[in-house]
Parts: sequence; structure tokens; C-alpha cells
Amino acid sequence: MEANRFGPILLIPIEIKWILPAKFKGLSQTCITRAESAGSIPARRVRRLFSFQRHLLSSRLLRGAPHLNPLHILDEDYCGQAKCMLEKVGSWNFDIFLFDRLTNGNSLVFLTFNLLNQYGLIELFQLDMVKLRRFLVLVQEDYHNQNPYHNAVHAADVTQAMHCYLREPKLAQSLTSFDILLGLLAAATHDLDHPGVNQPFLIKTNHYLAALYRNTSVLENHHWRSAVGLLRETELFSNLPAEDSLSIERQLGSLILATDISRQNEYLSRFRTHLDENDLCLGNASHRHFVLQMALKCADICNPCRPWELSKQWSEKVTEEFFHQGDIEKKHKLEISPLCDSEANTIASVQIGFMTYVVEPLFAEWARFSDTRLSQTMLGHLGLNKASWSAMEPEASGSSEEGESEPGRKQGSKRCLF
Ligand SMILES: *[C@@H]1O[C@H](CO)[C@@H](O)[C@H](O)[C@H]1NC(C)=O
Ligand SMILES: *[C@@H]1O[C@H](CO)[C@@H](O)[C@H](O)[C@H]1NC(C)=O
Ligand SMILES: [Zn+2]
Repeated sequence: MEANRFGPILLIPIEIKWILPAKFKGLSQTCITRAESAGSIPARRVRRLFSFQRHLLSSRLLRGAPHLNPLHILDEDYCGQAKCMLEKVGSWNFDIFLFDRLTNGNSLVFLTFNLLNQYGLIELFQLDMVKLRRFLVLVQEDYHNQNPYHNAVHAADVTQAMHCYLREPKLAQSLTSFDILLGLLAAATHDLDHPGVNQPFLIKTNHYLAALYRNTSVLENHHWRSAVGLLRETELFSNLPAEDSLSIERQLGSLILATDISRQNEYLSRFRTHLDENDLCLGNASHRHFVLQMALKCADICNPCRPWELSKQWSEKVTEEFFHQGDIEKKHKLEISPLCDSEANTIASVQIGFMTYVVEPLFAEWARFSDTRLSQTMLGHLGLNKASWSAMEPEASGSSEEGESEPGRKQGSKRCLF
């Protein structure tokens, strides 16, 4: 029974659904201030109350009631600063936390919409604006706000990183619009409805998802199926030939499943072999798909490659989520998962291990594939960030040396990650 608490429950506070005025245009600070001073409602709830997604087309209760105004293109509504930030959406220093605050917690909707628009995909695929917005809002809502790490901001961050990779010369020259659409959608949905605990936890608590997906890529399968569910529900691609929308669903799955960190070595050795033999041919659709898988994998775990101020925040959040799982395990007398025991680990130790055994090997190969300034920047941050964590955890510096020679060695301890 306990496990159900972590199932894909939609935690939408029902009571707020009818409060919002139907036509609430623009996110005004006065509204929030008024509401805050009016009562004792905590600020966080007020923020959710007025969250943009809810007044745009809002709740699931209103689904199917298309009193949405298709003319409210997102660009018209968000405030100037967020809009200004989007001009630098391709920058590796993009501060997604700030962007999320400026958009009142709607970074995923705004960012993804903006990118789809910027790439001309809305026009090219003749996407219905109402359906698209509804899809994006539902995607954002299906991420769990209360997860310290696996929430919609992480999804937005991965989407932004994906955008940076899609613009790398090798990819930009060869990817089709279809590839780009898939890459962005996969990034935005890759952790959809993440319960905030990892697969071993779901298995040992007999969660129904573990049974449903036979203990294999349980979370990733669920993220994919959830994304497909929303695509079908919103009929986003209903204007495309059936075979195309099926192809989108299938390829979305293949991309999302590639983010299963327990299969990293499999993907990495394939990538390595291609690079060694120099036989990646980006004119070939299946090779392009493989490169997209690698790009998404990089985007998913690129936190340690960001500037320290951003990277550090992610590290704190992910460790908080791990330790939270560890606390639940402790409370229920389950075996504590690796990296999840707050008494045996520190943020620094978790990060150093993650960087050494997971991130460095992946980004080293990525830099071989795409030897650009961005790759060098990422490796530069990675080195600096690792040094910063090492300085806080002097005894761990020895183990990072070992890792260089045997990148795959600590496979077991990675199980807890993502
Ligand atoms: C999944 O793993 C659990 C625990 O090891 C086991 O009891 C269960 O039979 C497995 N389920 C499947 C479908 O393999
Ligand atoms: C594309 O690559 C795949 C996998 O390497 C190969 O099986 C296929 O024949 C290639 N297709 C073309 C058209 O070259
Ligand atoms: Zn992720």
C-alpha cells in the first residue's frame, strides 16, 4: 500500500480550479501581492494558484471545454524579462532557475513553445496552437512540483541543453525538422510523471509500474507511455498521416529509453565504436537517431557541465531527492539504496562519483564526436566543478584518480541515479 503513495498520482489541488478568472491575461505582480495580503494562504500556494498554466487553459476538469483563446500566443503574455532571456536561449549559461521564476513556474511551457516556434516547427508541421499549448501545459502539470529534482524545471533544463546540442554544427547540418521536433519533445517529456524515487525502490516496494514494465526501464517506459498518452489525448499530431504519428511515438520511446542510466555503458560503447571506426554517417536516418539518443543522454546529465552557480543548485536538489528516498527506506526498514543514505554520503561525495564514473566518460566521447567550443566549455566546467566538490571532500580525491582508468567499474553504485 505504501508504494501507492509514490505512484503517478496527479497532485492537483482541486479547490483552486474554479477560482481563477477565465480571462486572466498576463501575469501581474499585483494579483499575487493582493492575494498574499488578503489571507493566510502560503505564498507558494498562491503562486500555484495564479500559475500561468492554470489560467491559460488550466485544469483537467476543463478538458474538452475549448473556451480557450487561441489568439493568446505565449509571446504576448509573459513578462518582459523572461522574453528578454529567451533571446539567449541558446547560451550554455542560460539560468533556467531564474527563467522559471520569471515565468512563475512555467519554464517548461514557455521554453518548449518558444523553441518549437523558433525552429519553425509549428508552421512546418501545421501544429494547432490550441492543441500544442494544451499538450505543453499538461506535460508540465504531469511533472511533480514537489520533487526536489525530477520536476518540470529539470525537464526545461534538459530541453534547453538539447537545443544547444541541436545547434552544434554537425547536428545542425544534418538533422531534419522531424529529428529536431523529436529531440525537443523527447527532452521535454523524458521524465514525465517521475515519482521522485528510483527503479530499485519501485521494484522492492512492489509498485505496480515495476510489474507493468517487468522490472525493466520501469521509469523510462512510464515517462514514454505518459508522453504518448498526452499526445493522443490532445491529438497534437492528428493532422499528420497515421504512420507519421506512430513513428513519432515509437521514436520518442527509443529516445526516452536511452536515458536509462543503467544502460549507459551499452550506449557509450556503441558510440565509442562508431567514433573509433569513424563510420557515423549523418545522412543515414538510423545514425541520426543514434546521435539524438546520445545528445539526449548528454542533456539529461549535463548538470555538472554547467557553470558552478547553476551546477551547484542541481547537485543540491538531486542529493536532496536521493536522501529523501533514503529516509523513506530507513523509515520502512528497507535496505537503503546506494547514494541515498544521508549519513554515509555527502553532496560532494555523490557528485564526485557521478562525475567520475558517469558524466566524464560520456562527455569525453561527446567531445570527440562534436569537437566544438561548447564541448570544451562543458569539459572545462566539469573539471572546475569536480575540483570544487573535491576541495570540500578531501578524502574522496583519491578515488577519482582510480576512475580514470576504469570508467565502468562502479556500475553498481550508479543504480540510484535517475
Ligand atoms: C521484479 O523483481 C521482483 C523483486 O526482485 C520480483 O519479485 C518480481 O518477480 C520481478 N518481476 C518480474 C516481472 O520479473
Ligand atoms: C543506415 O545505417 C544502418 C545501421 O548502421 C544500416 O543498417 C543501414 O543499411 C543504413 N542505411 C542506409 C540507407 O545506408
Ligand atoms: Zn532526467
